[in-house]
Amino acid sequence: MDKLLIAGGTRLDGEIVISGAKNAALPILAATLLADEPVLIGNLPHLRDITTTVGLLRRMGVAVTMHEPMRLEIDPTTIDDLVAPYDLVRTMRASILVLGPLLGRHGSADVSLPGGCAIGARPVDLHIQGMRAMGADIDLTDGYIRARASRLHGARIVLDKVTVTGTENLLMAAVLADGVTTIENAAREPEVVDLANFLNSLGARIRGAGTSRIEIEGVERLHGGEYDVMPDRIEAGTYLAAAAATRGRVRAKRVSPGDLDAVLAKFAEAGAHIDTGDDWIEVDMRTRRPQAVRITTAPFPGFPTDMQAQFVAINAVAEGVGVITETIFENRFQHVLEMQRMGARIRLEGNTAVSEGVEQLQAAPVMATDLRASASLVLAALVADGDTMVDRIYHIDRGYECIEEKLAQLGASIRRIPG
Ligand code: EPZ
Repeated sequence: MDKLLIAGGTRLDGEIVISGAKNAALPILAATLLADEPVLIGNLPHLRDITTTVGLLRRMGVAVTMHEPMRLEIDPTTIDDLVAPYDLVRTMRASILVLGPLLGRHGSADVSLPGGCAIGARPVDLHIQGMRAMGADIDLTDGYIRARASRLHGARIVLDKVTVTGTENLLMAAVLADGVTTIENAAREPEVVDLANFLNSLGARIRGAGTSRIEIEGVERLHGGEYDVMPDRIEAGTYLAAAAATRGRVRAKRVSPGDLDAVLAKFAEAGAHIDTGDDWIEVDMRTRRPQAVRITTAPFPGFPTDMQAQFVAINAVAEGVGVITETIFENRFQHVLEMQRMGARIRLEGNTAVSEGVEQLQAAPVMATDLRASASLVLAALVADGDTMVDRIYHIDRGYECIEEKLAQLGASIRRIPG
C-alpha cells in the first residue's frame, strides 16, 4: 500500500486549479443510463472512484470512450446487464446510484446492498422507501436490492432524513416516471443541483433543485448531450484549510465561493483574510496563528461534514479551545485518534471533539481510515515537527486528484512511497 511521506514546517503559499467534483461526477455518470443517446461528460476528476464507476458501466455493457483526459463519451444504448455486483459495490458504496436510473429506464435493477463503511452504517432504507412509493417492487435477497417496475409512477415522497444520494437516486428514478414526483426534505447540496442541471440539459423537467422541495415531471425519454461537471468544493476547502493550518496563503481557482459559504465563515472566524472572485477563493493566514472555532456539521447550506476532519486539524494547532460536533455520521472522528498520537490535545465526548490547540504537532507514523480523515492527517503532517508517514493513502486517492503534485505546487515537501 502506498504511503505519503510529508515534511512538516512549510507554510503553503500559491494557487491551484480545482478538479471536477467527485460527488457530482458519480451521480451524473450514473444518470447517463437514463438517456437514449450517447452523452459526453467533461471536467471529470481522475480519481479511483471515477475509474470504478466507469468499470461498473462497462460491466453492464455500456460503451465508454475516452475522448481526451477525463472527458468521456458514454453510450447507454449498448447496455446488456442490469446488475451492480457485490465485488464492485463493496469497493464503492456510491454504486447504489445506478439503482434509480436502471429502474427508471429499464424497469429492473439488481444492485448489491452497499455495506457500511468506516464512518458509519450508511443505510439506504430511504432510497428503497422512495422507489416503493413510485411503484417499484423491491426485495432484499442474498445481499442484493432486487427492484422491478413496469413503469414507475409519480409520487409525493417525504424523506425522514436529508440524504444526498437518496435525493439523487429518487430524482433519477422520477425523471422517466409516469406523472409528477415531489421530493420533500430533499438534500440541497450543490452536487444535487449539478445533477438536476445535467438531467434538464437532456430534456428532463426538474424544478426546485437546491431547495428542500424538488418537483420532477416525468418525460418519455432523454436525448443525448454534453455536460461539464462542477468543481469540487470539498477539494477546494481542503487546500484552503491547509493554508489556514500552516499559516500560509492559498488561492483555489475554478471554484464557486457560493458553494462554501458556511466554510468561508469559519475560516474568517479563525482569523483568516478571505478574498473571492467569481470563480476563485483565497484564504490568507500569514503572520498569524488561527483561532480555534466551534462547528456543528449539518446538511447544506450548513457546515459540511466532509470538511469536519480538516477543521479538527486546524483546531489542533489553533489558539484556544475548539469544539466540533458531528451530527451526520456516527463514527467520523477516527482522525482524532491518529492526531492524538501526533500530540494533539483533543478529547472526544460522544459526537463532539473538544480541542486545546498546541503550537506544533509532533511527526508520527499515522494511518488513514476514510477519505476526509486521511486528508486531515496530511494537513496535520504539514504542521508537525519532523517527517510524518501517512499509511493506507488509497483512501486519499479516491477523492483527491494528484494530491502530492498540488501540495508540492503550494510549497509542501511531500513524496509518495510506493508500497
Ligand atoms: C453523500 O453521502 C456523500 N457521498 C458523502 O461524501 C457526504 O459525506 C454525505 O453525502 C453527507 O453530505 C456522495 O455524494 C457520493 P447521506 P450519502 O445519505 O448520500 C442517513 C465523501 O467524503 N441515511 O446524505 O451516503 C445516513 O446514515 C463522502 O465524499 C439513512 O438513514 O450520505 C447519514 O446519517 C463521504 N438512510 C445521513 O442520512 C438512507 O437511506 C446522511 O447520509 C440514507 C441516508
